[in-house]
Amino acid sequence: MKLLEKTTIGGIEFKNKIAMAPMTRNRATDNGEATASMVKYYEQRASIGLIITEGVNISKLALGSPNTPGIYTPEQVESWKKVTQAVHAKGGKLFLQLWHTGRTSHSSLLNGVTPVAPSAIRIEGHKKATSTGMHEYEIPRALTTAEVKDVIKEYATAAKNAMEAGFDGVELHGAFGYLPNQFLVDGANTRTDEYGGSIENRSRFVLEVMQELVNVWGADKVGIKLSPSIPFNGMIDSDPQALFTYLIQELNKMPLAYLHLMNALFPLEQLPHWPKDVLGTYASLFNKPIIANGGYNPESAELELASGKAQLISFGALALSNPDLVNRIETKSPLNNPDRTTFYSGGDKGYIDYPTLN
Ligand SMILES: Cc1cc2nc3c(=O)[nH]c(=O)nc-3n(C[C@H](O)[C@H](O)[C@H](O)COP(=O)(O)O)c2cc1C
Repeated sequence: MKLLEKTTIGGIEFKNKIAMAPMTRNRATDNGEATASMVKYYEQRASIGLIITEGVNISKLALGSPNTPGIYTPEQVESWKKVTQAVHAKGGKLFLQLWHTGRTSHSSLLNGVTPVAPSAIRIEGHKKATSTGMHEYEIPRALTTAEVKDVIKEYATAAKNAMEAGFDGVELHGAFGYLPNQFLVDGANTRTDEYGGSIENRSRFVLEVMQELVNVWGADKVGIKLSPSIPFNGMIDSDPQALFTYLIQELNKMPLAYLHLMNALFPLEQLPHWPKDVLGTYASLFNKPIIANGGYNPESAELELASGKAQLISFGALALSNPDLVNRIETKSPLNNPDRTTFYSGGDKGYIDYPTLN
């Protein structure tokens, strides 16, 4: 099977073409440190070729969900070292996903501080789950131009910290409505400085962050996750195809490890001009490996690799529920079903207690 073949990206060899998609599990300490259970969770999945961690907050204000880990304090860095050492000891490779939630956060999670965003535009039509129940989203505070540049530097510091913690690379979370995605789309970004307006300007934040990450990590160690056809979290753009085409062409100028592309997983009837075939539309624009994500099972993943559009396939829910996913694919064994009730809480239950075949 292609999925089980080794592959190399840059200098890094991966045991197979299976990646674990980044998944927030809300099991970190209140200070955003990785716990012993988190070490075990990642270690259990070390047979996967490339593990991409859950979204990891780059700063205090980046946090948008309780008990999510960070990578901005020395204690957090130390705690992640135990994760990287455990996964490396089992021959696995792991990238840290850099996360800033921007306007999707809530002041109740930020000690009363209003969340920040490109523009003071709030998410309409959804409610926000916090530790104190469901809330309307708040109108975020628009970052000043100087503050935008500070956030870009925070990404660079977080990337250095990830290197110190022993990761093999970093991935920018540029998808699913979080801060970088908020800069990209004209439905959330109405800035009038160099970070808003034209497609070039709206792409600038992501491109400047990526350049900082490459400056820290060098060639072939930095990836980015994008979801060009996912309108979740109010990610509405008037011309996503032009936007993401430009962005990917600019990303090509950097020595990146990969582009992680999420399929269109949400209904698009209201958005008939949005491309439904994400890989077909964008994969060929990128001149480095593509990791395809979203809705794959082992069979459809194998077909996708055979199509030549993607070099790796990432599994989210199935990697969460099958610590021995690789062995199960190899032996064509049935897969455990993910338990949605323990995705974002539940302690060790639904976290490190999914059964393996042996
Ligand atoms: C519990 C859970 C948490 C998630 N958290 C993140 C996250 O932190 N960062 C991210 O980029 N995507 C996150 N996702 C999305 C997954 O990375 C992936 O894109 C999605 O699950 C689709 O892949 P799948 O169909 O194989 O599950 C999460 C998904 C799940 C199920």
